[in-house]
Amino acid sequence: MQSLDLTIIGGGAAGLMCALTAGRRGKRVRVIEHANRVGKKILMSGGGRCNFTNTGTTPANFLSANPHYCKSALARYSPTDFIDMVDAHRIAWHEKELGQLFCDESSKLIVRMLMDECASAGVQVQTGCSVEKVQKVEQGFLIETTQGRIECPALVVATGGLSIPSMGATGYGYELARQFGHTVLDTRAGLVPLTLSGKHQDNLKDLSGVALPVESRCNGANFRADMLITHRGLSGPAILQISSYWQPGDDLRMNLLPDTNAGTWLLDQQRERPAAELKTVLGESLPRRLAQRLCEIRVGSKPMRQYRSAELKAIGDELNAWPIVASGTEGYRTAEVTLGGVDTRELSSTTMESRLVTGLYFIGEVVDVTGHLGGYNFQWAWASGNAAGLAV
Ligand code: FDA
Repeated sequence: MQSLDLTIIGGGAAGLMCALTAGRRGKRVRVIEHANRVGKKILMSGGGRCNFTNTGTTPANFLSANPHYCKSALARYSPTDFIDMVDAHRIAWHEKELGQLFCDESSKLIVRMLMDECASAGVQVQTGCSVEKVQKVEQGFLIETTQGRIECPALVVATGGLSIPSMGATGYGYELARQFGHTVLDTRAGLVPLTLSGKHQDNLKDLSGVALPVESRCNGANFRADMLITHRGLSGPAILQISSYWQPGDDLRMNLLPDTNAGTWLLDQQRERPAAELKTVLGESLPRRLAQRLCEIRVGSKPMRQYRSAELKAIGDELNAWPIVASGTEGYRTAEVTLGGVDTRELSSTTMESRLVTGLYFIGEVVDVTGHLGGYNFQWAWASGNAAGLAV
């Protein structure tokens, strides 16, 4: 039996950050990863370039039943702290937009950096190893794995969420939380494309590939970004962002002309170009095929002079708040994150330690803290991993 100070289940973003932080403090740390390599989600993130943080991170960029929970960890480990480590490893990066930082070359460099830091802090990383059973014992935890037993006073659960099961995601972290009496809030896919069905899908599916800037709105949240029509429904950053706020039946709207009061604009167009057809006018501000389709399915198209002012105003109002009837989401198969998870009200916000079981910690995505699209989820993984790594 091996004796250690800390075992971390999950060699992803949060687990590796926690390991290197605790290792630097002289703790004897082992990371147990059931996949054949660590950091698979880091590798696939940001289209292979890892959007590793967002310089504009604030607690407002996260969803949680307890919105204050993330504040302390985020304040103690900022985007600048992570950038300092990236710079120390001479990894070149660039800002794409809105504070989103990406590697110039490859996400592999981020995994290598974390592994190098773990190695120099003396962390043991065991891949291809599955946990079979965890028991609370007098001295801490007894962990039975496919590669032997470990006893240690502290256990960190960093198993991530349920998204992309083919990359190693499991619900084991939630299972362990329940085993130790924790509440697990309902989980669902977030940052995920929406699906359409029936006539709503038929109306749009042949426009697959058409993209446009919109403002998506649902349940008080709104995002200005691009929307992409797909053969199954809708995607693009504006849809991924709002998907985390949407549940079936909720009112979901797209402002298709987010910089324009469309009613006023259409009345101006009527004055200036009375003979132009509505679809021609709309096709100059929206993708042409979409403009034509919107006219076919909803508002018709005739020369501008033939519309009454009230009609144009109503059409404009629709364009500024186009209702979307989504049938669902693409689910965990393509979701970037999992909403819900271990209830933060039973965890310490400074250390991530369980309030129910001494020595048990939960970090990263397994916890009910979910970021917006744009590097925020990794920043939460780094910050929560750091908080637990300093505390154990
Ligand atoms: P993570 O999923 O990274 O790690 C959990 C680890 O635990 C995995 O290695 C898994 O194999 C392991 N594990 C699970 N069950 C286990 C068990 N029973 N035993 C042992 N090990 C187990 N975020 C962002 O900020 N910027 C971005 O660019 C992207 N891009 C992106 C793209 C795609 C396609 C996805 C799916 C997700 C993103 N994300 C992202 C989200 C980001 O990847 C995610 O929030 C973090 O990886 C979460 O870090 P964790 O360490 O909590 O989980």
